[in-house]
Amino acid sequence: MKPKVLITRRLSQAVMDMLNDNFALSVNPHERVMTREEFLAAARGMEGILPLLTERIDGEALDAAGPQLRIVANHAVGYNNIDVHAATARGVAITNTPDVLTDTTADLALALMLAVTRRVPEGDRLCRGGRFPEWNPQFMLGADVHHKTLGLIGLGRVGRAVAKRAAGFGMRLIYAPHGECPAGGVDPVCGAKCLSLDEVLAQADFLSLHVPLTEETHHLLGAVELARMKPSAFLINTARGPVVDEQALVEALTSGRLAGAGLDVFENEPLIHPGLVGLGNVVLLPHVGSATVDTRMAMGIKAATNLAALLLRGEAPPDCLNPEVLS
Ligand code: GLV
Repeated sequence: MKPKVLITRRLSQAVMDMLNDNFALSVNPHERVMTREEFLAAARGMEGILPLLTERIDGEALDAAGPQLRIVANHAVGYNNIDVHAATARGVAITNTPDVLTDTTADLALALMLAVTRRVPEGDRLCRGGRFPEWNPQFMLGADVHHKTLGLIGLGRVGRAVAKRAAGFGMRLIYAPHGECPAGGVDPVCGAKCLSLDEVLAQADFLSLHVPLTEETHHLLGAVELARMKPSAFLINTARGPVVDEQALVEALTSGRLAGAGLDVFENEPLIHPGLVGLGNVVLLPHVGSATVDTRMAMGIKAATNLAALLLRGEAPPDCLNPEVLS
């Protein structure tokens, strides 16, 4: 008997084939996120669940699945949608998809930096609208990225990958650590200089966020922090929306206390603060940091591999976040 697994959205065919070969698979039949009721009902009796960041996996969801549930293999590196403590208390393993999306997400952070400073979406709209005027030396002037200071908040896998790219642009690299600064005050991997959050806020021409969303990082960037930034600075967020107080960000951008922002994530996805939508100094993307064909395939395969390790072979899943449940 193949183990029963629920997948909450259809993934690429190669991933679906891998899952179908190994599991008795239940698939969300809709081309949309399941309602909470649909999800709780579909989870019942499953030994494994492969959710996306759109599903909240909490005590209620774990209980709805039932005591036979052994693993939830999140199709994302971030797992703020999952109550890991509740899972651990019930002996359910939680896994995520690190590494495979690092470079792809870092590429998008750079794309946002360049798009907002060089006004790429605006220029594209203008050309399509037949509004390319004669060449004008004062037309569509933007800001430079190269040789500016990049401040990273959080320096994990994606933060370092952004730093590596920024070094190619000749940028000065500084970061605020999650914990203590390393000995010597410089990150040994990417060479970024470790400073306090306030120093990074004050010095950065670009502030790029790379922390997970937790209780500690919720609204890490609020009105006070935004006010410490240079008025010429740009905020880039490819991490999680609620790390920023979106209302405070709108006020900072509207009042000119901040030059602009490139945002791939929002506080209440899929809703976007109406104050952002009308602004010309922001570039907005619909949470597509890892959205390339290759990376989404790799994420699906990683999640399926985690499920297979535990459910088929009784082995520790490679990306287990709460290995204590395995002993
Ligand atoms: C995407 O946001 C992820 O965490 O993988």
